[in-house]
Amino acid sequence: MAKAQSTRAKYGAEAWAHMKGELPNPFPRTMGPNCMKYLQEVVDSGLTSDIIGRFEQRFAEEYGVKHCIATPGCTPALAVMAAAFDFDPGDEIIVSPITDYGTIQGLLKENYIPVFADTEPGTVNVNAETVEACITDRTRAILLVHKTGIICDMDPINELAEKHDLIVYEDACQAVFGEYKGRFAGTLSKAGGFSFDAEKTMGSDVGGCVVTDDDELAERIRFIGQSRGAQTKPRYGRQHLINGYAYRMPLCTAAICLAQLEIIRDQVARIDKMVRLLSNLIAEIPGITPTPIPDYMNVYSAWMFGMSIDPQQFTCDAWDFGAQLVDAGIPGAGKAAYYLMNEACPFLEHNARDEVYPYSMPPASREHHYGAEATPTATAFLENWIRWSTFCEKYQPEDCELAAALVSQVAERNRR
Ligand SMILES: Cc1ncc(COP(=O)(O)O)c(C=O)c1O
Repeated sequence: MAKAQSTRAKYGAEAWAHMKGELPNPFPRTMGPNCMKYLQEVVDSGLTSDIIGRFEQRFAEEYGVKHCIATPGCTPALAVMAAAFDFDPGDEIIVSPITDYGTIQGLLKENYIPVFADTEPGTVNVNAETVEACITDRTRAILLVHKTGIICDMDPINELAEKHDLIVYEDACQAVFGEYKGRFAGTLSKAGGFSFDAEKTMGSDVGGCVVTDDDELAERIRFIGQSRGAQTKPRYGRQHLINGYAYRMPLCTAAICLAQLEIIRDQVARIDKMVRLLSNLIAEIPGITPTPIPDYMNVYSAWMFGMSIDPQQFTCDAWDFGAQLVDAGIPGAGKAAYYLMNEACPFLEHNARDEVYPYSMPPASREHHYGAEATPTATAFLENWIRWSTFCEKYQPEDCELAAALVSQVAERNRR
């Protein structure tokens, strides 16, 4: 039998080009009525436009925070935060396991050790209990992901962190303008990172930002992330005090982001309504459970739709169920086991096993293990979980009805 060929991963519109079916998908993106005006301004200004600052100010105002620092993506936003926290190599950061590689890239770059907490049974996120089980004397911070836009239950996690003197920060990439007890995702801790990459709810070409109320952290993030760790010394010029980055948001990205910011609140309100409608319709199909929306969430800014299938009720597994959904007309539907970062990064297990720095002893204080076994609840959950990331602001009630009907058709065809 021919061996299946691995291919280079695709991103943005390229990754979505093959999708078909009647249901909406985010591409081509809705750009906002002022997008061309802002882009034109960048060109007319000969690159002197202050549009990045205006975007930062507007985003901070909308979020009700003191600082927004624009970056070229969430991966760099989180990398700069990791550098700004200035922990020691071998220090442990507890992190959500069901996520994107961008969540952990910065931790690895700083030689911190990611420790993946398990998820709460029946859902995609960690909780205070699963985080607590991972705390050691080397834990320095907790990095939380609000997967699909479902916000982690932050109050108990913040309480726990306070007890152990740990920093909490958020990867709010998938939850832009989502609300937890009336407060925005990304403002529920020390700092939050956002993504405006082409596929995200607030999609630009690339882009992201950090929000925080902490003046010192904000200044450090700008110093490391935008000034490459350099200060200007009198009668000398730039002197690099630390190894910094040039992670500045491009002007054209800021133009698109500013235009998107003007339409995003309406879009998120529509997404919230539609995802709740779709969840209710899907919940009526025996054997299918939409990913639960916790009561504390007053706005669900859903970046993707997720549901679990009960394997006892169907003759096919989640992989085949997802493939049949695609054939039936739900673009992008599928099992997403690869979201489990402790398994999707086999080099972590190799490095830990071979005691490659920082897993050498010291700086690590104990053995670390990765792979699917490190988070049994998350692994079991993803086995039967199906999502489609084509869910977007374009969904109307009739699209929700069509999507639910297609899921129902596939369910009946495969029912035991
Ligand atoms: C949870 C999460 N974190 C980080 C990232 C990386 O964001 P970016 O593409 O802006 O670097 C993504 C992108 O999909 C994500 O979903």
